[in-house]
Order: sequence, then structure tokens, then C-alpha cells
Amino acid sequence: MGWNSWNKFAGRVDDAAVRGMADAMVRSGMKAAGYKYINIDDTWEGVRDAQGVIHSNKKFPDMKALADYVHGKGLKIGIYSSPGAETCAGYEGSLGHEEQDARTFAAWGIDYLKYDWCSASALYSNDDMHALYQKMGDALRSSGRPIVYSLCQYGRADVWKWAPEVSGNLWRTTDDIRDNWESMSRIGFSQIDIAEWGKPGHWNDPDMLEIGNGGMSDVEYQTHMSLWAMLAAPLLAGNDLRDMQPSIHAILTNRDVIAVDQDAKGTEARRVSASRDTGVWIRDLSGGDRAVAIFNRAAMAGKVTVKLADFGLKAPAHAKDLWTHKNVALAGAEYAVEVPGHGVVMWRIRPTQLQSDAAGGAVDLPHQTGIIGHFR
Ligand code: GLA
Repeated sequence: MGWNSWNKFAGRVDDAAVRGMADAMVRSGMKAAGYKYINIDDTWEGVRDAQGVIHSNKKFPDMKALADYVHGKGLKIGIYSSPGAETCAGYEGSLGHEEQDARTFAAWGIDYLKYDWCSASALYSNDDMHALYQKMGDALRSSGRPIVYSLCQYGRADVWKWAPEVSGNLWRTTDDIRDNWESMSRIGFSQIDIAEWGKPGHWNDPDMLEIGNGGMSDVEYQTHMSLWAMLAAPLLAGNDLRDMQPSIHAILTNRDVIAVDQDAKGTEARRVSASRDTGVWIRDLSGGDRAVAIFNRAAMAGKVTVKLADFGLKAPAHAKDLWTHKNVALAGAEYAVEVPGHGVVMWRIRPTQLQSDAAGGAVDLPHQTGIIGHFR
């Protein structure tokens, strides 16, 4: 969990903005809600000196001092580079300097590297990706500092199958997200097909959040947050934390939804049912709880029928609605749930009784006593 500069600032990110974002992450309560990384994306890079050592450009006068500042707030700091000669924005990449750059990043105190394919495509094919990402993965591991390794090659070459082998902690699974419903929903709803590849320490990354950037409604941003939480996706806010509307702050810091995203079991959701406009997903959580998300992709509000048996449950069960924060008593076997257009209803269910013939291994989960109001 953290923040990344690209979605809101692109080339306008600088030292002052990064310090301001670290301050705001603490002041706004985002740090307390679990956000930790302040990640500088593309456009920080300057030139290499005669020894080949990379330096930051004039927007970032002293990277080490900036890292110290962010660390002083109890946060971690991330940076960005490319296996190609140039980054996507045309700045200096790490080609031929992988070990040297990893050592430089470690010396600055960097905790996270996003490594973006970009111009590597001019020299290499998809078949070379494994070796090139391995090269930087090895360089980070021998840098003397633990550095989270984020692969960014847009989900090509089934990256989810080999990223852990090259020490990848997360890997982008898609092209760039945009701040609109079409882009966000196309990405979010397609991820369920590769959900089996995400594991603790090694995560599918459907790209950074657009929540708060203005191109979607609050309901759509709730759907964005819910999809990412059901997918156990990295939560990297991409908005200006210094200037958040209360509704945006509430979405980004919803502890119940964050608890689903960060659940220790680390398994992603699976699809229970889908139609053209609806989708019902379930995610098994540690301790036997279930997260359920009922999505409506249509523009108009509609009813979605869900059966408790689909969740491996016998009625009655107790649920908490994670967006209204109200308890929901599930007394019957079937429900017609009203879901806003482009919206979601998300529940955390604590089973009182599991269906003995349930699908998905439900019978193996510990039996729990459901108490309304007993949720975290
Ligand atoms: C690519 C990445 C983005 C961002 C830009 C920066 O498009 O996918 O996330 O890092 O490059 O140039």
C-alpha cells in the first residue's frame, strides 16, 4: 500500500511534491490506515557521470536527503527505471548499468523499484524479458538493501507465471489504467481469470488507483477500490493526497475494505456468477470469513439475486456491509440485492453454519460463531 506520482503528476513530480505527499500521508490518516510507500515514477532521472553513476535531475536536487525525509515520517520510498536505454518518458534507463543503478538506489535508501519495459522493446523481444528482469532482480538482491521489485511490462508473456522466479514481488498485468469507468472496469473485471497466480509476497498488479482524480463518480471509485480489494491487489493511491475530498478520503481509508485487500491468507477472489451486467465474487479470508462483492456494471441501478448456497453457506448468516458499515442479517436462502449503477455491494460474512456439500472447500474452514457487530 502506498502512493505513486504518475497518475496525477506525470512529468510534474518533484522533490517538494514528494515531501508534501509524505506529510499528507501521515496527516490525512492514510499512514494509519496502512499506506506506507511513497513512490516516485518516471521523470526523476538526470545524466550519468564519467563513472556511469546515474544522478537525479534538477527537480530532485538530493535523492538521499529526500529518502531520509520520507523515512523520517515512518514511511518508505520507491523509485523507477527501465531495462531499456530510455524510460517511457524518454529519460535515462538502466541498460548496461543494472548493478550500478541497484547499488546507487540502495545507497540513496530506496525501498522499492518499479522497472518498466518501455524502450527495451526496441532492442529485445518478449522472449528476452525473463533474462532482463532477472538481471535487475539479481542486482537488487545483491545491493545490500531489501528493495521491493515491481515488474512493469504490461502483462505480456504470461508474466504471472515467471515473475516470482526473477524475485518479482508484484507485476503489472495490463496496459496503463485511465481515470474513467471504461478503462478501470475493463481492467478490474478481466483480472479474475489470472487470480490463481497471486500469492503472499508475489502479487498480480492491475495498476495504480485513480480514486480521487476526478474522472469517475464516488460510486465508481468505490467499485474500483472493491475490485482491487477482492483481487488482493497493491493499493497505490494515484491522487493528490494534499487535497482530498472527504468522500475520496473515506473510500481510500475504508478499514473494512482494506482489511479484505490485505487479508493474510492472500488468495484472490473467484467468480460465483456473472451475467452481461453483473458479477458476484467471493474471496476466502483468514479465519473462515468470506468477502462477497456484488457488482452491477450497467449504468442503471438493478437487482442481483444471490444465493447463500453459492457462498457455501446455510442461512442464517451474519454479514457486514463494508460500504454502509451496517450489519446485514442473512436469514433466507436467497436475496435480491439492489446495486447502484456502476456500483457494488460488498459484504464480509462470518459463517454461522457451513453447507456440508459446499463448493470451494468450504467444509474445511473452521466453524465460527457469528455475532452481529463483532467484526473488526
Ligand atoms: C508506462 C507505465 C506507467 C508509467 C509511465 C511512465 O506507461 O506503464 O505506469 O510508469 O510508463 O512513463
